[in-house]
Amino acid sequence: MLDRRAFLEKSALLSALGFLPRAVRAEEYELDVARTALGAGPFRGRPCVVSSANGIKGVKLAYDRITGGTDTLDAIIGGVNLVELDPNDQSVGLGGLPNEDGVVQLDASCMHGPTRRAGAVGCLEDIATPSLVAKAVMDYTTHVLLVGRGARKFALAMGFTPQNLLTEKSRQDWLRWKSRLNPNDNWLDHDDNVKINWTHGTINMNAVNAAGDVSSVTTTSGLAWKLDGRLGDSPIHGAGQYADNDIGAAGSTGLGEINIKACGGFLTVEFMRNGATPEEAALKTLERMVHVTEPRLLDDKGRPRYDIQVYAVTKDGRFGGATMYEGASFAVCDEKGARLEKCAFRYKNTERPR
Ligand code: GLY
Repeated sequence: MLDRRAFLEKSALLSALGFLPRAVRAEEYELDVARTALGAGPFRGRPCVVSSANGIKGVKLAYDRITGGTDTLDAIIGGVNLVELDPNDQSVGLGGLPNEDGVVQLDASCMHGPTRRAGAVGCLEDIATPSLVAKAVMDYTTHVLLVGRGARKFALAMGFTPQNLLTEKSRQDWLRWKSRLNPNDNWLDHDDNVKINWTHGTINMNAVNAAGDVSSVTTTSGLAWKLDGRLGDSPIHGAGQYADNDIGAAGSTGLGEINIKACGGFLTVEFMRNGATPEEAALKTLERMVHVTEPRLLDDKGRPRYDIQVYAVTKDGRFGGATMYEGASFAVCDEKGARLEKCAFRYKNTERPR
């Protein structure tokens, strides 16, 4: 065992040499990392689950399972299943807003850090839990991504039960959207003041356990009223989510077309690899997203006409979230319990293009 003085001296040396992570949140954890670096003790990590705000119940479920010994990916898939199966959440799974033809098409992907495996499905119809189908692709095939008819066929072969995912509420929203698409079409407008529901909402969840193993999952019904066959960022590894067991995990919610071009999940993890805290990494990824945005989606001051969020967790249990425009929160659960925290932001709400 090291005595305290020798430990502090060696910690300072390692820190100066860049071997220790900076800005760790908990002193106890700092000591653990230093002990591990010195070969003085086992890695005792800090379990943590972070997600988009709609995962507030899911992060608690996932955290409790992780601290009870469940694998990180199984735990967070359990967490997002709560949202996928909630008919009142119109951005994910059952009850998600449909495409322009009134058909609910779901996307999901996952990565399992410790085994370096990945799975995904895109444009999946009739199955409420695409995250579980994505994991089945990972567990039972040599492939990483299945789409459309093939994804559905695979899900049925794996024993998933097909069901109608279009709830009455979402069908009514679709009809309202359709009837107000074009004033010269053959659909009568019944209510001039109707607000058309619009979402590219999603749930992304990332987790680390006490052993420092990380996983990530993202699941969505995608952009409301999208073209048949449109894939967003959620089924794309490196965009909608990414996990690297050496570093951490990250993912995103918001306009998927932008995130695909920025490779947001991968990029955030790479920023963390280079020393950024999760919050700094998420903000830097948002900056890159602005950089890859085409002019039609920018106002005359170069500010994006869309919103997007990035969430991240490190192997050592630090976490953060950032949003393009001030106001969004993210969900986190650690030893302090489940809560919503404010995202860091790139632009103030007052700067939002009107
Ligand atoms: N981020 C969800 C989507 O754009 O499909």
